[in-house]
Amino acid sequence: MWKRIEKAYASLHMRVDFKPQIGIVLGTGLGAVAENIESVYSVPFNSIQGMPVSTVQGHSGRFVFGYINRVPVVVMQGRVHYYEGYTPQEAVLPIRLMIRMGVKALVLTNAAGGIREDLDTGDIMMITDHISLVPSPLIGKNDPSYGDRFPDMSEAYDAGLRDLAKVAAKKAGLELKEGVYIQFPGPNFETPAEVRMARAMGADAVGMSTAIETIAAVHMGIKVLGLSFISNKACGLGGGKLSHLDVQAESKAVEGKLSELINEIVVLASNK
Ligand code: HPA
Repeated sequence: MWKRIEKAYASLHMRVDFKPQIGIVLGTGLGAVAENIESVYSVPFNSIQGMPVSTVQGHSGRFVFGYINRVPVVVMQGRVHYYEGYTPQEAVLPIRLMIRMGVKALVLTNAAGGIREDLDTGDIMMITDHISLVPSPLIGKNDPSYGDRFPDMSEAYDAGLRDLAKVAAKKAGLELKEGVYIQFPGPNFETPAEVRMARAMGADAVGMSTAIETIAAVHMGIKVLGLSFISNKACGLGGGKLSHLDVQAESKAVEGKLSELINEIVVLASNK
């Protein structure tokens, strides 16, 4: 895996002479956030050697390198998921690649189902911590040049970035809720019983992507900010049947709000 990452890095770095400071991952239906950036390079995933390719509707699969208010960023439009049949190690390869390109902080966004009662469709929840129900992406031989064998996870979602996101939300006039994200493997949505279990475990919102990405970033010593867009009430909590199309449609409705928040965060984070 480590060799594969270095190969992908060589293949990308050869074509892209750019050092992003902040990496941003856009979740389901949130791809248009990338349109706000002043793009310098756009690199489709399938043109990078060894890169896993996203197969999900609503995930177009490319890196956009460019500027948000003069801050060099890379935006990952369309991520790869465990449920697509990739291993957790493969699913986080793009995260590691962005870090190899130079990013010092990552903003991970996702669509998620709201479990806690006050989390409604359209809300944005900042992730304070996570529970992962999928295998760790660190399983296998460790390369100490990437990170420790046993990384500490006591503050996986950086407290400084969380404070800064609160300031950014205030500036943008947005309400920012907070909570614990739980990653299920998917691709099926959870059953009502599983959602009750997740609640009992201490989870506030449920999704299928972000926890393993955070683990890989923490492994490499990179700060993470996680933002969940609540696209629906989790299964069994009154929202009726769930569909990927509804998740996409709800995400579209919040793209503007989230772009504004991300712009503010990027500016504040780059001054740190
Ligand atoms: N469950 C899991 N993943 C999701 C959901 C959900 O309810 N909504 C959006 N992504």
